Amino acid sequence: MINRKKVMVVFGTRPEAIKMAPVIQALRQRESIHCQITVTAQHREMLDQVLKLFKIVPDFDLNLMKQGQTLTEITTRALNGLQEIFQRELPDLVLVHGDTTTTFAAALAAFYTQIPIGHVEAGLRTGNKYSPFPEEMNRRLAGVLTDFHFAPTATAQRNLLQEGIPPEKVFVTGNTVVDALLATVKPDYSFLDPEIQAIVNRGESSRMVLVTTHRRENLGEPMRQIYQALQKMLEVFPDTYVVFPVHKNPKVRKVVTEVLGNDPKVFLVEPLDYEPFVNLMARSHLILTDSGGIQEEAPSLGIPVLVVRDTTERPEAVEAGTVSLVGTGYDSVLKELKRLLSSKGAYQKMAAAHNPYGDGHSGERIAKIIIGN
Ligand code: UD1
Ligand code: UDP
Repeated sequence: MINRKKVMVVFGTRPEAIKMAPVIQALRQRESIHCQITVTAQHREMLDQVLKLFKIVPDFDLNLMKQGQTLTEITTRALNGLQEIFQRELPDLVLVHGDTTTTFAAALAAFYTQIPIGHVEAGLRTGNKYSPFPEEMNRRLAGVLTDFHFAPTATAQRNLLQEGIPPEKVFVTGNTVVDALLATVKPDYSFLDPEIQAIVNRGESSRMVLVTTHRRENLGEPMRQIYQALQKMLEVFPDTYVVFPVHKNPKVRKVVTEVLGNDPKVFLVEPLDYEPFVNLMARSHLILTDSGGIQEEAPSLGIPVLVVRDTTERPEAVEAGTVSLVGTGYDSVLKELKRLLSSKGAYQKMAAAHNPYGDGHSGERIAKIIIGN
């Protein structure tokens, strides 16, 4: 019997699950690895949607989500729960992903248990402590505790080297988001939900603008202004309509419903399963979002994205031309919407497909590096 290396993969939210799924798949194909999964369930329904799609059954589930949870609550509950599991299971490596509060708490719990840490999607930076909040600090704090940094791009690698991380600890792997995306988008995909299929069909005669927002720093007034700009867009361009899978956060839902709830050209739907969502992205004319993951997916699909934030840690897609950073003010958001919807040239310039984030084999690369270490 060979001595198998025990790798504990930890995550808690929808995007972490989507991006860890290819890593889990690659680890599970390795005889020499015993892969265990712990979810904090910082998200519940939105996490479970992904677990079901990728057939991931967690070994441990902290089930910690609470309505209106504070950052301190997530951190302390995750830290307590994870430390107990790590002490009992004593994995050889803990793998965390990205920049959520689960990421930071899991890295800290692993450090307290003196277990080596691998950080997937390491090295993304805006340089602004409060933007995005709290993600910029979550990923930095996880970074200083990390032993193996899996940087998705050369830019992320550079960020880490500039912070003094030894080069031999940094591996450029591509982003696993592309692995998941390429396995899921299908040109002939048909939507199981007839309501969604009907919404998609409208796109044959009009232009679909797909919208998601959830960032903590955008809650309240910034979101209100973004939605008001969308409302004006629908008025100015009669051939446009909005599809908006609304994040479960009640603070997001309140403002969305107040501003856009009664507009007949706005389709407010529940968060979609990943498979219909990315296939919906592929069929949209334009995307407006504050999501990190969507900024990475859209370039591979060649769909222009307006990012409603003041900063981005993903400059590659901006440089590639698919993503435009438009802020959150009514005037700036509306101006860019008008520009793209009225100028074919401006639209075409953004609509070319690029692949700055990966080739679909990042999960494999990470598994190989883990085996070698
Ligand atoms: C979290 C992450 C953010 C990530 C985002 C992905 C932190 C601090 N934030 O933000 O980095 O970009 O996930 O979506 O780590 N809720 C449900 N059901 C769910 C999920 C959320 O009801 O399945 C509601 C709950 O009321 C919860 C609230 O949404 O309290 C906020 O969830 P939380 O994880 O704290 O923040 P997100 O904005 O989702
Ligand atoms: N996504 C999804 N259903 C939706 C909206 C988004 O499956 O209704 C996917 C999307 O394709 C991307 C990820 O969720 O892979 C992004 O999650 P989110 O925007 O919540 O978080 P972020 O990436 O900003 O951390």
